[in-house]
Amino acid sequence: MAIHDVLKMGDPRLLAPARPVEDFASPELAQLIVDMHVTMRSLDGAGLAAPQIGVGLQVVIFEINVNPLLPNPRYPNVEAVPFTVLINPLLTPLSDVMEDGWEGCLSVPGLRGLVPRHAELRYQGFDATGGPIDRSVSGFHARVVQHEVDHLNGVLYPMRIRNLRDFGYTETLFPGQHLQDD
Ligand code: NI
Repeated sequence: MAIHDVLKMGDPRLLAPARPVEDFASPELAQLIVDMHVTMRSLDGAGLAAPQIGVGLQVVIFEINVNPLLPNPRYPNVEAVPFTVLINPLLTPLSDVMEDGWEGCLSVPGLRGLVPRHAELRYQGFDATGGPIDRSVSGFHARVVQHEVDHLNGVLYPMRIRNLRDFGYTETLFPGQHLQDD
């Protein structure tokens, strides 16, 4: 297992579409997921996509920890999401409602931007063993999934900011707060 460097915005590998996983039994896939997990944990991230460590496969992971003693001021009503591996995802919005929310990204360190996302969506795909995943979610869970799946299509969140006035340095926008990146 190895902690990898996370590619930063400007690297062309972050702009390339990722390929679907075809072999769920391969040791390389298992190793990739372990490496993504330890890399995300080492950076205290909420999510990570395989292209962020230079692997062009449709694999994302995410995990939202909620500490009731340290509520996240950015997302006061966030619900915890268990560690999830989502492979070959398909997203289906469940309504036309869009919500603005602040996002950060391990590939865009130190910055935050206000991004519109579908408020409710269904996501389907496969877990690490090839078992099916089918969840309908809303709020921050839905936001994180959309952010991570964007990485598989070569999209970084700054490309979705509607007004670049709503983009800035985390320490300036949210002084003194500890915020996770996706
Ligand atoms: Ni990201």
